Amino acid sequence: MEFTIKTGTPEKLKTGSAVVGVFADGQLSDAAAALDKASKGKFAALLGRGDLEDKAGSVLAIHDLPGSACERVLAVSLGKRDEFGDKAWRDALAAVGKALAAGAANDVAVCLADTPVPGRDIDWALQQLVRAIADGAYRFDATKSKDKNKDSKRRGAGKVVLLTREKITASMEVAVQRGQAIAEGMALAKDLGNLPGNFCTPSYLADTAVALGKQYKLKVEVLDRDDMEKLGMGSLLSVARGSHQPPKFIVMHYKGGKSKDKPVVLVGKGITFDTGGISLKPGAEMDEMKFDMCGAASVLGTFKALARMALPINVVGLIPTTENMPGGGATKPGDVVTSMSGQTIEILNTDAEGRLILCDALTYAERFKPVCVVDIATLTGACVIALGKIPSGLLANDDALARELLDCGTLSGDRAWQLPLWDEYQELLKSNFADMGNIGGRFGGTITAACFLARFTKAYKWAHLDIAGTAWVSGDAKGATGRPVPLLAEFLIGRSQGTPS
Ligand code: BES
Ligand code: MN
Ligand code: ZN
Repeated sequence: MEFTIKTGTPEKLKTGSAVVGVFADGQLSDAAAALDKASKGKFAALLGRGDLEDKAGSVLAIHDLPGSACERVLAVSLGKRDEFGDKAWRDALAAVGKALAAGAANDVAVCLADTPVPGRDIDWALQQLVRAIADGAYRFDATKSKDKNKDSKRRGAGKVVLLTREKITASMEVAVQRGQAIAEGMALAKDLGNLPGNFCTPSYLADTAVALGKQYKLKVEVLDRDDMEKLGMGSLLSVARGSHQPPKFIVMHYKGGKSKDKPVVLVGKGITFDTGGISLKPGAEMDEMKFDMCGAASVLGTFKALARMALPINVVGLIPTTENMPGGGATKPGDVVTSMSGQTIEILNTDAEGRLILCDALTYAERFKPVCVVDIATLTGACVIALGKIPSGLLANDDALARELLDCGTLSGDRAWQLPLWDEYQELLKSNFADMGNIGGRFGGTITAACFLARFTKAYKWAHLDIAGTAWVSGDAKGATGRPVPLLAEFLIGRSQGTPS
């Protein structure tokens, strides 16, 4: 998809589709007013018939509007003017993304950036617009047979002009480029998430990282079982014991900053399928455990976006990846293992495996003397119970870092919500046979999981994103969301503009 920005109004533009915003009760945005004027009031009259619903995100296509050169006008509702804010804007963008992807027009002009959300500027609006339109066009058909189910004749917008009254500035161009880069990162994260476990194995993730490294000239190392044994990653390896797929530990280096700049380290959970192991999960919806590598996918997607944006910052990506399978060699409840940190762990439930692979990666992270570490993991079902599927869970050992990530969530629309990481919860991890157990009982499952990780992150500032509720959607629209790539990308953009230390 190709994006350009131009200064102008829509009525003279020869294009397949012109997208304009309309507020509830017929209030027109400036671009819509320009069309209305050119049509001598016909546009407003057509809207007056009431076919466009008031709710933000409703759309109505009007063909051959008099006075306009475009084939059709796509009116999108922005909701009530006095309620217009981030949510209405997001709803409108999602609807536009969907409509443009499904529509027949290839050339489109989008005239929405001039109706900015209160408190946001045009750069923000453009970045979000581009991201939403590019993301709306995402399709996954890699595992459908070619002739029957693939969208061979692709519909949807191919060339998008973003129209604004303003003079085009360099920062507007940057915003467009960033929106596109983030959408591409999301697409990679979605592709990896959507690929089933028989395709997306630990080796596949490693190959993807190596290919990304080749494409963008990043240093990528892949550690094998032997290397992990030498490092003493007994906790990670205990999860891999039941699987026939070899585990991998992926290390990626993005060096956009000065060589002395300490890196941000991103760590992504890469369980390519989580059966629960010997503590086997029930059968219902177990297919969705192919998404248990979405933390890893978000790290790869963020690296793609980062490289496309060429941000001046240093970032290390760490991906511990394995399947969690039952089998003759599998770890059993009650087994005690020694982590790379030297701390011992009694594995009381083999289904609490995410923390077991993350803890060794978090210890490995120390060697980079990171400015901060953020891990991303589909870690606990309890997070979905606590917060639903709207925000990711956020826990951190540093309040400023937590605040920064929460703000990036709001800014990008890819939101997180903080839960407490208080020491009082640590007692729940007590074990009679090891330094700690790997589960904390029925209560506060997201918090006790983070408390477990906190025991391995004392050397640096650290935040944990539990994306169990946000990495994918279930039901008819089942599929990966590409979250939290937008949040992480925004975080790195912020860091590249001046690093809080
Ligand atoms: N990958 C799951 C968490 C999960 C479950 C994410 C459902 C999204 C939907 C994780 O490995 C897991 O199984 N966690 C257990 C922990 C428990 C055994 C303490 C859980 O949440 O039930
Ligand atoms: Mn599990
Ligand atoms: Zn899991």
